[in-house]
Amino acid sequence: MSEIKPYIPENLQHIAIIMDGNGRWAQKRGKKRVMGHKAGMERAREMAEYCGEQGIKILTLFAFSSENWKRPQEEVTFLMDLFATSLKNESKKLHKNKVKLSIIGDKFGFDRRLQKAIDKAEDLTKDNDGLLLQIAANYGGRWDIAQAATKVAKSGIIEITEELLSEELVTAEIVEPDLMIRTGGEQRISNFLLWQTAYSELYFSDALWPDFNSDELQKAIDDFAKRQRRFGQTSEQLD
Ligand code: IPE
Ligand code: IPE
Ligand code: MG
Repeated sequence: MSEIKPYIPENLQHIAIIMDGNGRWAQKRGKKRVMGHKAGMERAREMAEYCGEQGIKILTLFAFSSENWKRPQEEVTFLMDLFATSLKNESKKLHKNKVKLSIIGDKFGFDRRLQKAIDKAEDLTKDNDGLLLQIAANYGGRWDIAQAATKVAKSGIIEITEELLSEELVTAEIVEPDLMIRTGGEQRISNFLLWQTAYSELYFSDALWPDFNSDELQKAIDDFAKRQRRFGQTSEQLD
């Protein structure tokens, strides 16, 4: 019996996901919000495996925004601990699966121990040529644009072009997301990849992140496959 292979369109190289709805998922079950983050972590792992298996080149997951520090201290501490343990527990397996791990965001906002764990995981996987897994942590789209502008300004260049600026973003040299998914029912960007999603196809799912499995992801991919990306041109020009 042959298994039907899921269809992955050729023009889909980079998927970015705003993993939202962990807190509500836990509360619906009478559990503490943080239990939702734990369950959400399992999903993140499953998504990375699925994307790797299906030959997707890049997966970018929004794990912690620059605004999430405003959450109750207990929740922030839990998230930081979860991040540190996951880096420690998962990096060997990621490495085995040829995943290259990259943390995008303001790393200096983390404590020294976490910064070291990040460096170690990135270093271990840096030469891998499988899936590029980007975890956006302490990331804000506005921060990204501002830090890029600072770098260009420091070089003394006055005429700032789009190309120069995008080369200094944390995602420099990486193709922009083809598909951006947000789970959890909200339809907003929440300061994710503001510059890079200029022409991404958007997909919103009501599923709370811990319920968003690989079938749900494939549904989003199938929806993407039906769309015509015009980048400003007319349909006739693209026929
Ligand atoms: C997303 O889930 C994870 C993070 C922002 C860290 P939430 O924690 O925002 O879950 P809801 O939106 O409150 O349900
Ligand atoms: C966006 O979710 C950030 C992450 C998923 C990491 P939020 O839950 O923080 O977004 P808002 O506050 O509802 O816009
Ligand atoms: Mg939320």
